Amino acid sequence: MAIGKRRWILVAPLLLVMAALWHGWESSAWNLPRRPSTSGASRVEPPDDDFTWRRAKPHYPVTSSLRPLPTAGVDALPGVQGQVHFAAESPERKQLRLQRRDAIKDAFTKSWTAYKEHAWLRDEVTPVTGGQKDTFGGWGATLIDSLDTLWIMDMKADFESAVDAAHRDISFATTQAPTINVFETTIRFLGGLLSAYDLSGDARLLSKARDVGDLLYAAFDTPNHLPVARWNLHAAARGEPQAAQSDTLLAEVGSLGLEFTRLSLVTGDARYHDAVQRIGELLADAQATTKVPGLWPILVNAADEDFDAGDDYALGGMADSAYEYLPKMAALLGQQEGIYADMYARSMEASWEHLFFRPMTPTDEDILFPGVLHASVSGDGVSTSLETSAGHLICFTGGMLALGGRLLANATHLDWADKLTRGCLWAYESLSTGVMPETFHLTACPDPSSSCAWDESRWHAAVRNKQPLNDAQATIKEQRLPPGFTHITDARYILRPEAIESVFLMYRTTGDPRWQDRAWALWTAIDALTSTPLANSAVWDVNPPAGEAPGKADSMESFWLGETLKYFYLIFSEPGLVSLDEWVFNTEAHPFKRLREGR
Ligand SMILES: *[C@@H]1O[C@H](CO)[C@@H](O)[C@H](O)[C@H]1NC(C)=O
Repeated sequence: MAIGKRRWILVAPLLLVMAALWHGWESSAWNLPRRPSTSGASRVEPPDDDFTWRRAKPHYPVTSSLRPLPTAGVDALPGVQGQVHFAAESPERKQLRLQRRDAIKDAFTKSWTAYKEHAWLRDEVTPVTGGQKDTFGGWGATLIDSLDTLWIMDMKADFESAVDAAHRDISFATTQAPTINVFETTIRFLGGLLSAYDLSGDARLLSKARDVGDLLYAAFDTPNHLPVARWNLHAAARGEPQAAQSDTLLAEVGSLGLEFTRLSLVTGDARYHDAVQRIGELLADAQATTKVPGLWPILVNAADEDFDAGDDYALGGMADSAYEYLPKMAALLGQQEGIYADMYARSMEASWEHLFFRPMTPTDEDILFPGVLHASVSGDGVSTSLETSAGHLICFTGGMLALGGRLLANATHLDWADKLTRGCLWAYESLSTGVMPETFHLTACPDPSSSCAWDESRWHAAVRNKQPLNDAQATIKEQRLPPGFTHITDARYILRPEAIESVFLMYRTTGDPRWQDRAWALWTAIDALTSTPLANSAVWDVNPPAGEAPGKADSMESFWLGETLKYFYLIFSEPGLVSLDEWVFNTEAHPFKRLREGR
């Protein structure tokens, strides 16, 4: 266990590589398009027994009894948005909101059309050159990720043709890719299909979801039944035995719960839930005894079931959705008590103690960011140091605490949610383009609980500390560092959703229309920076020298249509459209129906 700094040096390059590969969720639904009334669509299709992954014989059959299918908790959870007062809108305000909503739908239509015309059935369209590429197994990632957005935006004809194509032309039997990422395949493909099924009731989608589920379930065919995170399915198809990997990222093993559990609930087959519930139980067992009790490190050892392998603890990339799924599992299952609500509360307590920091800003903003804690064991003790870094992937934390705060009726969490969300918006607004970089470092306040007056020399000292060989003032000028920033380590913006995700959750959990105005400011900055004649593109530099262009990276990941534009659309829609009292979003913004009494 006493690994210390040296191991970190060995692991650091691996983490960098992994980081580079990282991508890093009736009555009140009055606006939801109605389910198709054709009886054919709601017919249950029997599973195709010829599907190769359904026939595969396991090397390591699960012999102990399966965890039972969950049923709704008896104690109803508090409403997430049911108890929120959404003030009546003036006619002017409503008109403005609908204009904004339509602008988002136009942007979606533009990018979707580019995908249809240039990259149909491929994973991604290239938004500058109009080419196509396969990045996630070649199973039409953008098509599958967009299905539920098409439904929510009431683009019925496009939804129908996309479902047809998914059903007829996409096969999850195999792929050209040498390996697949089990986590990404779960959140994008399984999540996208399940959500589109939950919304539309179209049985073809359930049939495809079951195919992906059975493909992925084969990755759990290991001696300890933990999944192979980076999975060579070709070797598995040849019948070679396999084992879970010793270097596994926390998020890759810890955020499969919503999708596999929802698949069990809609199919009645408990195996999928059983597979992820075992992981939940292992996390719960390990939580109090890690080097930083309450948190698990970014790097875990799935082969040995060691959930305290690494020395770095964070809520950002590579760990993120493992934490996000704790309150979301409680929401999905309707459980106010149980391992998920419990793990969530403990992990947030520990995050407050160890990770959250207040940055020093010229206007003394009362905001928070979660940093990265490096822990090392020496003798009997553990010493820690907090790196006051941030990145776009931490921006989901505000939304997580808003949801969790409502579910657990904890006002402290709602307060942290507000500060974390406004932290990300402050970072966006600090850049001349109005868009936040992918990763950067900040100057921490000396004492977060008292006020934190701006101190230019303290900022300069922090810059020198971060970039030791350079003169602070020259560095700030040359790198165009906004006040408080000490280093921009990755200046890209890759169309990520986490900031608008949290702003959306703040709106739905508070009813405060000012969040809609902040969302609009976010949108205008993002669209101005990323728009291309065809679609929207990732950019290389959100902080270019005056007069220079940000540089388009010719990339549009599927989450742009699956997540970013969906959250923008929903914040400008009536709050009952995909109500958080009935739905819970997976980490790719795919809403699943929550389990509730009597359903
Ligand atoms: C709310 O959360 C805070 C921080 O984790 C915790 O200290 C407090 O006990 C919680 N309050 C309730 C009523 O559970």
